[in-house]
Amino acid sequence: MIKNVGIIGSGTMGSGIAQVAAAAGCLVTLFDVDQQALDSAKQSLEKITNRLVEKGRISSQEKDALQNNIRYVNSLKELAHSDLTIEAIVENIEVKKKVFQELEGYVSDTCIIASNTSSLSIASIASVLKNPSRCIGIHFFNPAPLMKLVEVIPAIQTSKQVLATSQTTIENWKKVVAVAKDTPGFIVNRVARPFYGEALRIYEEGIADFATIDHAVKSVGGFKMGPFQLMDFIGNDVNYTVTQTVFEAFYNDPRYKPSFTQKRFAEAGYLGRKSGKGFYDYSQGAILPVPENNPVLLNSILERILVMLINEAADALFLNIASAKDIDAAMTKGVNYPKGLLAWADEKSIDWCVKQIDTLYNHYHEDRYRCSALLRTMSLKNETFF
Ligand SMILES: NC(=O)c1ccc[n+]([C@@H]2O[C@H](COP(=O)([O-])OP(=O)(O)OC[C@H]3O[C@@H](n4cnc5c(N)ncnc54)[C@H](O)[C@@H]3O)[C@@H](O)[C@H]2O)c1
Repeated sequence: MIKNVGIIGSGTMGSGIAQVAAAAGCLVTLFDVDQQALDSAKQSLEKITNRLVEKGRISSQEKDALQNNIRYVNSLKELAHSDLTIEAIVENIEVKKKVFQELEGYVSDTCIIASNTSSLSIASIASVLKNPSRCIGIHFFNPAPLMKLVEVIPAIQTSKQVLATSQTTIENWKKVVAVAKDTPGFIVNRVARPFYGEALRIYEEGIADFATIDHAVKSVGGFKMGPFQLMDFIGNDVNYTVTQTVFEAFYNDPRYKPSFTQKRFAEAGYLGRKSGKGFYDYSQGAILPVPENNPVLLNSILERILVMLINEAADALFLNIASAKDIDAAMTKGVNYPKGLLAWADEKSIDWCVKQIDTLYNHYHEDRYRCSALLRTMSLKNETFF
């Protein structure tokens, strides 16, 4: 039973994870090297929990209990009594390795040492520990208190016991767990790449503008946000870097190739909402672009993006990155897709998916449009995912 939880890094993710663990009744010790970061984490938690009381989501006793469950510390040694530690510091493998080595010197032999990394190899982080079998990836999504999904990533060194305890603990924190193989992007950041990449490609080819592509994805596909709205929301700098990292980690597989359009937007400082301008203009009084309303065009845009997403999800299953159930849960609970991609493939028919991707491949002759072998086999055998 995990009771004492140590969190390393009190930034966006660390403070959110601390809130989740404290709300579930754990005693949390939140550590940061930067006193200012600790102070602002404390202030922001007070603000958030006060608002939850105002909205009637929690009682003022629950708020007090939640706040009292978190201790803010500026020394790593204070995490000595932890049953589980989750690291959420800067995304730099050397810095993380140093912190993990130091931490192992303080905690008990049974303490689980986890990382919230979005892109680094868990096997590599674990390798610096004397006991690497206690290391695991526990990947929350932003904002951690609101997003239901947590990817749990055992490294090749991780023990079965550590995986089982991590999974049960996160489920007790009222989250949905998807277990993923220790590969670049895990599930969500891998499977979601075509949502951005194919939308950018459609724009680059001059097939449609940002507003029309977003409109197609929302009105025909039922997505809450279009790809360009979402890239503006995430930040073009951040989203471009994730794509580039995944692309390089997959030895430059053209399926994940980053886009010059997004690179230029990032370079120009058109980062999105946070800079006031991205693919859209967020200044006051800005005139919103009007999308084209041609149903045939809208449908073809949605189908092209959707089939590329399905292909990616199918390939993740083919390569045993996660189970079909977890891949679909990851996309619906982690990035709010309207449907699981594999369930969507069943609905459209596997045969339809193969034909759509083959049509793209036959037209472009680019490896980017190669159909997953799993889809092809399933189509021949008339199989479905569920
Ligand atoms: N922001 C996201 O959307 C998101 C989502 C999922 C995962 N992640 C991952 O979570 C981790 C943290 O990201 P973030 O967005 O919360 O970053 P952040 O910049 O908001 O916070 C990082 C915190 O770590 C602290 N820190 C840096 N080095 C430290 C050290 N050596 N010891 C202790 N504290 C240290 C900093 O002072 C800062 O407060 C990264 O690995 C990132 O990839 C981020």
